[in-house]
Amino acid sequence: MNILDLKLVPQGAPELNIQAFDCGRKSVNDFFHNEAHDYQEELFGKTYYWVIPERPMDIVAGFTVANASIFTKRLPNARQKKIGFEVHHEKGLINYPSILLAQLGVDIKYKGLNLGQQIIEFVMQWFTSPDNKSGCRHLIVDAYDEPHLLDFYQRNGLNLFFSSVEQEMEYRNWDKEKDGALETRLMFRDMILLKRPSIRR
Ligand SMILES: CC(C)(COP(=O)(O)OP(=O)(O)OC[C@H]1O[C@@H](n2cnc3c(N)ncnc32)[C@H](O)[C@@H]1OP(=O)(O)O)[C@@H](O)C(=O)NCCC(=O)NCCS
Repeated sequence: MNILDLKLVPQGAPELNIQAFDCGRKSVNDFFHNEAHDYQEELFGKTYYWVIPERPMDIVAGFTVANASIFTKRLPNARQKKIGFEVHHEKGLINYPSILLAQLGVDIKYKGLNLGQQIIEFVMQWFTSPDNKSGCRHLIVDAYDEPHLLDFYQRNGLNLFFSSVEQEMEYRNWDKEKDGALETRLMFRDMILLKRPSIRR
C-alpha cells in the first residue's frame, strides 16, 4: 500500500470515525480517541490521519507532530558530537530545531505494509521542503523502549540519543522516584542528509 494513494486529513475533519481506529496500543488509541482534539486546540501538537479516499471515515494511520529542540549544552561531549556529526562546527548552536513525530499508529488491519516507514519518510520530506515555514534539522521520536519498536525506528534511520538509560534520565531531568521508570527512549535522525551529502566523508 502506498500512502500517495491515500488521503491526508487533519484532526477535526468531520467525516473521520476516530473511535473506530485501533493500532493495537492502548496509549496511542486513547490519545487519538480522547486527547488529540484538545492537544491541538492548545497548540501542543497537530494530528493528521491517512484515510482511504473512497471511505474517508476509515482511518488507516495517524500521527502527531510538534516542534521540539535538542539542547546541545545538556548533552555529554560524545553525544554532542554524535548528534551534531553533520553540523559545521562554526555553526554550533545552543539548540537544534527539530520536529517531534509522536503517536505514530497504523491500524491493525494495515500493519506490516510499510506504511509506518512511508509516514516517517513523508514527515521528513514535509519538514525539510523549501516551503516549510521554519528551520527544522532533526527528526525526533520518543519511542517505547521495546526491542521490535527500537528496531523499526533504527531501520528507518533513527538512532538512540543515549546508549544508557541513566544518561537519558539525566538529560531529561527524570526522577525515577517521582516519575517512575523511563518507558520511552529518545531517538533522532539528522535530516540534512536528505538535502546534501555528508561533510564527514
Ligand atoms: C509501529 C507501527 C507504527 C509500524 O507500522 P507498520 O506500518 O506496521 O510498519 P512497517 O510496515 O513500515 O514496518 C513493519 C515492521 O515494524 C516492526 N514492528 C513495529 N511494531 C511492531 C509490532 N507491534 N509488532 C510486530 N512488529 C512490529 C516489525 O519489525 C515490522 O517488520 P516486519 O513486517 O518485517 O515484521 C505500528 O506497528 C503501530 O501502529 N504500532 C502500535 C502503535 C505504536 O507502538 N506506535 C509507536 C509509538 S512510539
